[in-house]
Order: sequence, then C-alpha cells, then structure tokens
Amino acid sequence: MYLIAGCVQNSPRRYAKIMSSSIGHKPAKVISVTSGKGGVGKTHTTINLGLALCSMGKRVLLLDADLGLANINIMLGFKPAATLHDVLSGGAAIRDILVRYTDGLDVIPAASGIPEMVSLGEDEKASLISGFDEFATDYDYVLVDTAAGIGDSVLYFNAAAEQVLVVIDPEPTSITDAYALIKVMAAQWSSKEFDVIVNRVPVGSDGRGPFAKLAAAAGKFLPVSLNYMGAIAEDDSLVDAVMKQTPLLKLYPNARASRDIYRLAKKISANEGSRTPKGGLQFFFRSLLEQGA
Ligand SMILES: Nc1ncnc2c1ncn2[C@@H]1O[C@H](COP(=O)(O)OP(=O)(O)OP(=O)(O)O)[C@@H](O)[C@H]1O
Ligand SMILES: [Mg+2]
Repeated sequence: MYLIAGCVQNSPRRYAKIMSSSIGHKPAKVISVTSGKGGVGKTHTTINLGLALCSMGKRVLLLDADLGLANINIMLGFKPAATLHDVLSGGAAIRDILVRYTDGLDVIPAASGIPEMVSLGEDEKASLISGFDEFATDYDYVLVDTAAGIGDSVLYFNAAAEQVLVVIDPEPTSITDAYALIKVMAAQWSSKEFDVIVNRVPVGSDGRGPFAKLAAAAGKFLPVSLNYMGAIAEDDSLVDAVMKQTPLLKLYPNARASRDIYRLAKKISANEGSRTPKGGLQFFFRSLLEQGA
C-alpha cells in the first residue's frame, strides 16, 4: 500500500473488500467531460462533480484521460506512485494504480507528459480493456476527463461514453471549437446527444446565452440534439482552490461555483430513472478498442 499525500493507492486486500461490497450493483454510468477549446474548465468540473456525486452517496471513479497533459492528480495535490503508463508497459495492474482520494472517490491517474501515451497502440488498448473487466460494478459513475480538441483519443473516449458533457465558456472561440467537436463526433461516430455545461458565467448571467449560440448553430447544420445542463459561475474561489491543489468543494463548499456544481450533480443523478445502462466500464473500454481498431 502506498500513502500519497493523504491518498491511498490500492492494496489487494482493500481491492477485495471493494469488490465484495459491490456485488449486485448495476454497471457504472460512464460520462465524458470534454471540450473543443482547451482551458475551459473540464478538469475542475470533473473533479468537483465527482465530489458532489460522492457527497450524495454515489461511488465515483475519475479517469484522467488527458493522457498527454495529465492534471487531475495535480489539481488534487498528489503524485501517483504508479500511473496508466505502468499498466501499459506491463509493470502494474489497473487495480494497483487506483488512488483513493476520499471515501467513495477513486482516481485513475494518467502519466503526465509521456508522449507515447497520447496515441494508444492496439496492444495497450487490449491490456487496458482486460484490466477494466474486473471493475464492472464497483462504481456508480465514471467521470472521464478528456483532453481538449478533436484528436482521435478524445473522439474515442467520447464515443464510448454513455453521456457526453461538453464544457464551454462564454468566449466565442470556446463556442466555435465546441461546435467543431460536436460536428466531428456526429460525422465520424454518429453521436446525437450532447449535454452542455457553461463554465465561467459572469455574476448575474445564467449561461443560456452562450448555450443558445451553440445550439442555434448545431440545430441549423447538424443532426444532433443539445441539452442545457446548467452553468458554473466565474468564481475566484476556484482559482484559489487550483493554486492550493485542493478541490473547490472541499475548500469552499458554499462558494457560488460550488453551489452550481451541486446543482449539476443533482441533475445528473436525477436522470438515472430513465436510464438504460450502456454496459459500464467494460463496454466503455471495449468500444474504445473497437473504435481504435
Ligand atoms: N468557474 C471558474 N471561475 C474562475 N476560474 C476558472 C473557472 N473555471 C476554470 N477556471 C480557471 O481556468 C483554469 C483551467 O481550468 P481547467 O484546468 O479545469 O480547464 P481544462 O479544460 O481542464 O484545461 P485543459 O484543456 O488544459 O485540460 C483553472 O485553473 C482556473 O484558473
Ligand atoms: Mg484539463
């Protein structure tokens, strides 16, 4: 067992305990958090939504899929002893690299700056999939923090997820880049439904303006349906939390942006009733392999 700045990287005994307590649960809902433009708030949204869902009693796994520029572990303030790179190079099993950040919230860290991980090869994909088979029902939600843009790996992660959360901010470039991402997802993967979160919304505004611009363009030219999930306020508390490498919800649970995130988490979990599970992590990673084949 590794102790990492208050986080526990997994041990076989703890893993066995998690597994035995999860028998009978339905497959996790895999949600990708993605964007066309970089820096719009994917990573903080992923982490804080994960914590909000966790506070509602959900078991959450965060997967850092920004393989080139991993930053979940940086925002959470820990340095993993082992990463996906160790799994891909055969030095570790996936269960060995799980980090328990807090009760109910685990993280699969990526490996920062390892260029060969940006484009996964077939063997690496196959080894990832067989590793994830063991986790079929351990979590209620798997939140996947993707890289920005329309690179292949971003598209694969989004296409394999059950729900795609597109994060935009009010800047025009963020909206046009989101449009480009949605267009490619629709053309290459026949993706039809996207949920949109508008981050960095100024005080006194609710995010519907930027969403309406994106929805108008998409509605006119693309065979997709966009759903407004809600907004996260522009909030200096978040900047402070990032600097302190501590999640916003932990540091400032009553901040404006925190309240927005709790609201979003409730909306995400409220959709559960009508859900037909897509098959959880196994399906997610099998789809990744098939897409990349
Ligand atoms: N709601 C907000 N209020 C104030 N600042 C914010 C907000 N959201 C994001 N930021 C700022 O933007 C920065 C980038 O956020 P984050 O790392 O979550 O974006 P990202 O989309 O994951 O970026 P990348 O594409 O590089 O992975 C944060 O470190 C923070 O300084
Ligand atoms: Mg990020």
